Amino acid sequence: MQTRTALVTGANGGLGTAIAKGLAIEHHMHVLVAARQMPDARETADALRSAGGEATPIQLDVSSDESVAKLRTTIEQAGGRLDVLVNNAGRNSMTEQSEASLGTVDMKTALGEFDTNALGALRVSQASFELLRKSDAPRVINVSTEMASLSTAATDFYPLAPSYRISKVALNAVTVLLAREWAKHCILVNAYSPGWLRTAMGAPEAPYSADEGAETALWLATLENNGPTGRFFAEMRRMGQPVVLDW
Ligand SMILES: NC(=O)c1ccc[n+]([C@@H]2O[C@H](COP(=O)([O-])OP(=O)(O)OC[C@H]3O[C@@H](n4cnc5c(N)ncnc54)[C@H](OP(=O)(O)O)[C@@H]3O)[C@@H](O)[C@H]2O)c1
Repeated sequence: MQTRTALVTGANGGLGTAIAKGLAIEHHMHVLVAARQMPDARETADALRSAGGEATPIQLDVSSDESVAKLRTTIEQAGGRLDVLVNNAGRNSMTEQSEASLGTVDMKTALGEFDTNALGALRVSQASFELLRKSDAPRVINVSTEMASLSTAATDFYPLAPSYRISKVALNAVTVLLAREWAKHCILVNAYSPGWLRTAMGAPEAPYSADEGAETALWLATLENNGPTGRFFAEMRRMGQPVVLDW
């Protein structure tokens, strides 16, 4: 069987590295390790190769049209087909004082977060489409958050975090619409919430490791062809099994 190829954005740390590791080591995929800075991508790819995996470093800034435009050529050089795309790259300004109220949200911050978290995933998905179509089991996984669930946003216990939430609600919209449009090409597109993690974006006291947060991504990356699409899943660790979240 041909080795499957996966692209993970923001793969130089935290959850992205954990997902890249799971795909390369547990699932024996060739992982394209994408990071904003090439030395960071190289460092993670080298670590995966040292652990016995197949990994290729890629420079990719998901908020840059120019950087994403080069992606297709890069993937073509790396084999010309993409089986799994994980849109993991993200930013979060939640701890900034201006995010404590909708009245003080800084528009530049909000636009930056929207550009990376929502449009970044769309840009990379657009650039990957023709390469995903060459796969016999193409999967797209968008890393979202429970904070993006509009059905619970009015009453949940999470911080207000308006810029982050708005960007991830938009990422969920990208998920549903891509799933609908790409259903005819049998590309399964799903979003998931990894839970609160012990990463740079999360906190040392968070309940889950990055590896635990990666579990749902690995499950979504290896779905059967009749698997779900256009859905939003919770982290599997807490639930013990895949659980669908309300949008
Ligand atoms: N941590 C949590 O508790 C938690 C909870 C729910 C959802 N999530 C989501 O999980 C994903 C990963 O977060 P994490 O916890 O692993 O945080 P992290 O350690 O801060 O990692 C974020 C990654 O995204 C990259 N990134 C940011 N902007 C980028 C851009 N424009 N182009 C390419 N890469 C970019 C960062 O690269 P640099 O190193 O170059 O900055 C970094 O590799 C995010 O989408 C986040 O929203 C996290």
